[in-house]
Amino acid sequence: MTLASVETGQGLRAACAQAPETVIATVQKSGIRGRGGAGFPTGLKWQLAAAAPAPEGRRFVLCNADEGEPGTFKDRVLLEDLADLVFEGMTIAGHAIGAKEGILYLRGEYIYLLAGLQATLERRRAEGLLGDDVLGTGLAFDIQIRMGSGAYVCGEETAMIQSLEGRRGEPRNRFPYPVVAGLHQAPTIVNNVETFAWVAAIMARGADWFASIGTDNSTGPKLLSVSGDVARPGTYEFPLGVTIAEVLAAADDGGKAKAVVVGGACGQCVPARDFSRAISYEDVSTGGAVIVLGPDRDLLDVAENFMEFFVDESCGQCTPCRVGNVAILEGIRAMRRGEFTTEQLRDLQRLGGTMRVASKCGLGQTSPTFFLSLVEHFADEILDRVPTPA
Ligand SMILES: Cc1cc2nc3c(=O)[nH]c(=O)nc-3n(C[C@H](O)[C@H](O)[C@H](O)COP(=O)(O)O)c2cc1C
Ligand code: SF4
Repeated sequence: MTLASVETGQGLRAACAQAPETVIATVQKSGIRGRGGAGFPTGLKWQLAAAAPAPEGRRFVLCNADEGEPGTFKDRVLLEDLADLVFEGMTIAGHAIGAKEGILYLRGEYIYLLAGLQATLERRRAEGLLGDDVLGTGLAFDIQIRMGSGAYVCGEETAMIQSLEGRRGEPRNRFPYPVVAGLHQAPTIVNNVETFAWVAAIMARGADWFASIGTDNSTGPKLLSVSGDVARPGTYEFPLGVTIAEVLAAADDGGKAKAVVVGGACGQCVPARDFSRAISYEDVSTGGAVIVLGPDRDLLDVAENFMEFFVDESCGQCTPCRVGNVAILEGIRAMRRGEFTTEQLRDLQRLGGTMRVASKCGLGQTSPTFFLSLVEHFADEILDRVPTPA
């Protein structure tokens, strides 16, 4: 893994020797986009937060380590093996946007990582890499860790901010965006664990190095969590633009996969005929999850499993998501019993389309994606279960 070969400390030293605007310009030049899923340009996010007025002088750097997407585990690997790089990226962000306070929001189920992460923070303070005078440069920045409590929706950045404020973890309305009014109404950047690690690497090796990897619009390498019907599941690093077929060859699906879910439970189901498609922001994008489905998988069984997850995890705040997930789940169950008509199937497709545009946050906007892509690409398999009206 490239990240494992990045010398820790190098990126932070380079960043501290530069003006904040120069650091932001370097991040922008690298072309890096967020590794958490949505792919927002990281440098632009930082620029907006740095430019937003901070009435009480407070700005925040939040690291999203909630990692609740089914099939995603690469952030856990980073926190276990390369936590220094993640904390270094957060410290660089603090310098860039003028924040003194950083928070790592850790998935509740990762509580077993807490002691090790706290020890790393303590060591970094002792080494002068955090605290009131980072590397003797006068930069003040420190990081605390706050635990999530097992709600998937708290990975959504505004729900995370609510949770950190001691409120119910539910997505907020935008506008304003967190870069303008986030935690405690102060300018706040939220970035994924992997994004921060790559920023440390970019500051150590340069924007051109990063931009030379990947494609024009999807620069750099990406970590993928590969699971499912493969001989070698695990965390892989590929340049963005890698084809699904190349990922399958590395993880060894034996040439048998019938579909791959790219993006986790909220991702799309890509059929074998499209395995030449690229994993990138301009083609099939993912926060990291690649779930391989072998020839014997019942795709409706997988869809039912995903929809049960969304019904459980919807915060219930808005109707399209609260009601829509239940309706799709019930429809899938009826299909599996053979008690469904093609007209009802069309209704569910329309409902999924409505959820995509009318739900308040990314959960409801993406929860129908797998089901809709199944209907699109595996119509035969589904229509076999839908009796034709007499
Ligand atoms: C329901 C839901 C769950 C999410 N969970 C995560 C998560 O666990 N980790 C993450 O980095 N982003 C997650 N996101 C995306 C965040 O809202 C946000 O876009 C991201 O943390 C920004 O970081 P990035 O720009 O570095 O990708 C989630 C979004 C939604 C809608
Ligand atoms: S889309 Fe779902 S999770 Fe998001 S706010 Fe609406 S009900 Fe809550």
